Amino acid sequence: MGEGPQPITITAALDHSVRCISCGEISPSPASDFRCFACGDLLEIDFPGWRLASVEDGTKLKRLWRERRLSNHPLDTSGVWRFREVLPGLEQWSNAVTLREGNTPLFELPRCAHAVGLVRLLAKHQGMNPTGSFKDTGMTVAISFARQRKFAWVACASTGNTSASMAAYAARAGLRSLVLIPEGKIAWGKLSQSLDYGALTCQLRTDFDGCVRVLSEVIRRYPVYLLNSVNPYRLEGQKTAAIELLEQLDWCVPDHIIVPGGNLGNSSALGKALVEMQQLGLISTLPKLSVIQADGANALYRTMREKQGRELVAVEAETLATAIRIGKPASWKKSVRVLDATGGCVEQVSEAEIAIAKAEIGSDGVGCEPASAVTLAGLKKLVKNGFVHAHDSVVLMLTGHLLKDPEYAIRFHRGDLSVPHVADAEFRQLTASQRKSPVALGASADSVLRALEAQEKRDA
Ligand code: F0G
Repeated sequence: MGEGPQPITITAALDHSVRCISCGEISPSPASDFRCFACGDLLEIDFPGWRLASVEDGTKLKRLWRERRLSNHPLDTSGVWRFREVLPGLEQWSNAVTLREGNTPLFELPRCAHAVGLVRLLAKHQGMNPTGSFKDTGMTVAISFARQRKFAWVACASTGNTSASMAAYAARAGLRSLVLIPEGKIAWGKLSQSLDYGALTCQLRTDFDGCVRVLSEVIRRYPVYLLNSVNPYRLEGQKTAAIELLEQLDWCVPDHIIVPGGNLGNSSALGKALVEMQQLGLISTLPKLSVIQADGANALYRTMREKQGRELVAVEAETLATAIRIGKPASWKKSVRVLDATGGCVEQVSEAEIAIAKAEIGSDGVGCEPASAVTLAGLKKLVKNGFVHAHDSVVLMLTGHLLKDPEYAIRFHRGDLSVPHVADAEFRQLTASQRKSPVALGASADSVLRALEAQEKRDA
């Protein structure tokens, strides 16, 4: 090879290293808690070889990834492993555990755009993954590494979606799985998944943060592979949602990407993908990535407002958007870095704002779970305060499927959902135009037609 940058090899980046985000120390074989052995901070995957990447490499990658969409090879039909050049490579590709994750649709939301005051609004629906949430994109990668390292057990603490996803992928891989969830704070759809997929499901009398504490002791005392998002291999898989999004946009960079924030793994992963895509010459500018939290679980929001992102403000979390009911987010430092790198911001929204936004997304025929709807609720605020402009291109990341939490939707539409800080009667009045309660009728065509006419009058 002569002078100048050498082309990156278009095979998987087998030569990744695992590095501490604070002290930069390399962990040749990460500890079971995925913490830096030197300073105890979080780890991330680094690809030193990419520093030599050239613009031609970016063009080659785009072509290769597009060509793979015509292939029926199991790795190519996965919307994660199709991008394997930007993932840590497996020693044997046969270790990859895939359920054809990723490949999620990008939808127009015309009614929501109108409600928010934007010309156009897009949503990438990660709830269309095999187990109904974005967790599958990370799980396929991390479970594959668990299998490669010959673990018998995998485990996670979860607000419900990670556990559903882990249980499914563990079942596919022939591994045993241990789920720790907060009792009574898990949506039924999610709990039923982890049971059906055969996980040992422990409902602990504590919250998510308490489950994390218990699990950290379990992994110290027993050889189980940790699958919470402190596991950096999970975030590598979750990166691909941003890559797939850019490919769907023909590599035209949107002005804004808006994501919900809970444990803050997802915003960290998407931000890492954006920065890496820029390094690899796939895109030349970065979208602003903003994070929205429920105001009852607003640790990142307070961390930025009160401590300028320098130290975590942990909170006692409470929200009906149970997926993001998290008070001490593990990946807060990574998320702060993403806000800095992309120029995004963090916003908080109330329970009433979440419920209304969820019904508005539903009215576009898409639907999502409450935690995903914070994105639309937050976007309204960002438009109002001038951070987002009417002609900006904006993509909401919808993280979970509507059927994950049908109880929330039914109670909302029936008018018996109680949200904190708003009187029930006032909330019912606020949401009257979005609510579509079921109509109980006698079994006759006459009564059905009367209901139809009444509806037409209401809509006129
Ligand atoms: N949306 C949904 C539907 C989620 O399930 C989660 C997190 C988030 C958003 C927030 O993502 O944690 O990466 O900031 N659910 C986790 C779980 C914590 O256990 O299922 P985050």
